[in-house]
Parts: sequence; C-alpha cells; structure tokens
Amino acid sequence: METSHDPVRTFKVRRRVTTGQAEALQRLLPEYGLDRTQPFEAATVYGRTAPLVLEIGSGMGEATAAMASADPARDVLAVEVHTPGLGNLLRLLEDGGLTNVRVLEADAREVLRDVLPEGSLDEVRVFFPDPWPKARHLKRRLLTAEFADLVATRLRRDGLLHVATDWASYAAQAEAVLAHHRAYEVVSRERGARPVTRFEQRGWDAGRQSHDLVVRRR
Ligand SMILES: C[S@@+](CC[C@H](N)C(=O)[O-])C[C@H]1O[C@@H](n2cnc3c(N)ncnc32)[C@H](O)[C@@H]1O
Repeated sequence: METSHDPVRTFKVRRRVTTGQAEALQRLLPEYGLDRTQPFEAATVYGRTAPLVLEIGSGMGEATAAMASADPARDVLAVEVHTPGLGNLLRLLEDGGLTNVRVLEADAREVLRDVLPEGSLDEVRVFFPDPWPKARHLKRRLLTAEFADLVATRLRRDGLLHVATDWASYAAQAEAVLAHHRAYEVVSRERGARPVTRFEQRGWDAGRQSHDLVVRRR
C-alpha cells in the first residue's frame, strides 16, 4: 500500500489469516469496519458525539479492546494494515460487546491525510510502532517530522499524542521529533494507565524497557 506522497512503507505485508480470523473479518467488518473512501463523520459513524481516539497499529487488538472497554465515554478508531490482527480485534470487540470502536484497514498516514478532518482527534496513540532497527531501514519508521506535522493538524487543541516504544533509538527519535516541535509541548514521560501491549511484553521478554512520551498540541 504505497502512496504517491510517501512511497516508503512503514510495515511488513503479512496477510495470512486463520480460519477464525477470516470468519470474523467476513462477519464483523460490516458492523465495525469503515470504508476509507467514504467521508468520515464521527457522529454518524459512532451514533453519538464523543471524544475520538485514533490508535495507529492496533496489532492483535488486546490493548485496544481493553482500553476501549475501560473508557466507554470515548470513541476509538483503530487503524491497522495487518489483516490477521484486525480479525482478532473484531472478535474481541464482539466478545466484549464494545460499541465504541471502529476499525479501518489502511495505512494510517493516508487515513490522517485523506479521511480524518482537521482538529477531529482528542488523542492519537502509537504504541510500539515497527522499530526498523537496521540503519538501512530507519527511513521506514512511522514517527518522522512529517508525521508529527500531519498529526498536529488532525488533533484538536490540547489533544494528546502518546508514543510508546521499547527501542531506545526509537525513543530518542520520538524525543528529537516531538519534544521541540513547535506544535507540541511535553506532558509526560510516564506510561499512565495504558495496558501492557503484546509487543511491549515481547520487548520485556527480550530484556528491553518501555519508553513513553506524551505531548499536547498547543
Ligand atoms: C510492532 S506492532 C505493535 C502492535 C501493537 N500496538 C502492540 O503494541 O502490540 C506495529 C503495528 O503497526 C502496524 N503498522 C505499521 N505501519 C502502519 C501504518 N502506516 N498504518 C497502520 N498500521 C501500521 C503494523 O502492521 C503492526 O501491526
């Protein structure tokens, strides 16, 4: 899924789904899935007016479902390119009876640019983005200055961008991009109430530490 604006892919293409995930995708996407070619109107999509959280790269969705369940007053848009993960998330949404989450299978940069209106987001979460640790792959990292600029236009004033990574060099990149960005001010370097994610646990198992950075749009 490459774009004319930014041809560098930030993810590996892995689409092999289990039978259960395929069944969930077929049955539940009509209920929870959005069509990126349709105009996005939050009140229509969620059937109410509530603060909107964008989660980029929801992975297998356990943390997404847990956070949405714990925070029913806010709506969540989970954007992911990993089809099996979306299938898993859909099952979790159904099992939890969650009504405040919708999913979109797309490159989040395109969703930010083409789908979401300016100032529409209360919070953007980027939890454990693909680390791309090799020098020749650094250009694939999601969190660039261009990405930070784009997110700033979609966040409302005082909206938050929360980034977490278990790669020290990516944490340093997040600091470099966000801590001195004129659109943001640093709020916290704590994890807050977010649950442990699947990739975070993998990082811990491998001996890495989590680094959080929360910035507020001025
Ligand atoms: C390392 S995983 C982390 C998943 C989850 N947040 C966690 O912590 O367990 C990163 C996820 O981001 C997704 N991803 C990478 N680039 C993306 C993009 N441009 N748009 C949407 N999702 C993306 C990948 O498909 C992958 O599932």
